Amino acid sequence: MFSYQGKHCRELLSTTAIAERVKALGAEITRAYADRGEDLVLVGVMKGSVIFLSDLARAIDLPLQMELIGIASYGDSTKSSGVVQITSDLTKPIEGKDVIIVEDIVDTGLTVSYLLENFRTRQPRSVKVAALLHKPERSVVKVDIHYLGFTIPNEFVVGYGLDFAQRYRNLPGIMVLEGGEH
Ligand code: IMP
Ligand code: MG
Repeated sequence: MFSYQGKHCRELLSTTAIAERVKALGAEITRAYADRGEDLVLVGVMKGSVIFLSDLARAIDLPLQMELIGIASYGDSTKSSGVVQITSDLTKPIEGKDVIIVEDIVDTGLTVSYLLENFRTRQPRSVKVAALLHKPERSVVKVDIHYLGFTIPNEFVVGYGLDFAQRYRNLPGIMVLEGGEH
């Protein structure tokens, strides 16, 4: 336990553990897509995934494109409503492409399941999901995560891109914020 910006933090995943896991995921994706040509597109879900996206992309030894998609989900902070809106769309069509959605965390699963459904209408060759974290205890809709970093307990985490009220994204590891109000 240590103090960061006046809050108590407990490290859940160290920078070393994350770096090793991301490298392994990159190698796995490299093997899986090696004979698929040059149509791999990583789609990072803003903003939480951008740090994972940048590390994962550099761990993949294949030609690829990177895209970002912005999402707003309605409902209060504790209950995801499943109503998701695209606030910033892809810059290029994904028709005929091999798409990997890159997410920071799959919590209820509603965001990824919305994106999967939305992307399918754009006729990509394939769509898979890479998520750094998964909180299975919070699952509302079942989502297949093809490339998963870590399964974590039902605790609110920050760092490595994940925020609380837009803060803590730049913490290098994954931390649990102690105390109800963060
Ligand atoms: P969903 O409930 O699977 O739709 O998760 C949607 C989004 O909620 C994730 O992409 C995160 O941005 C955010 N989220 C869920 N759990 C956490 C957490 O523990 N820390 C920070 N953000 C979270
Ligand atoms: Mg997110």
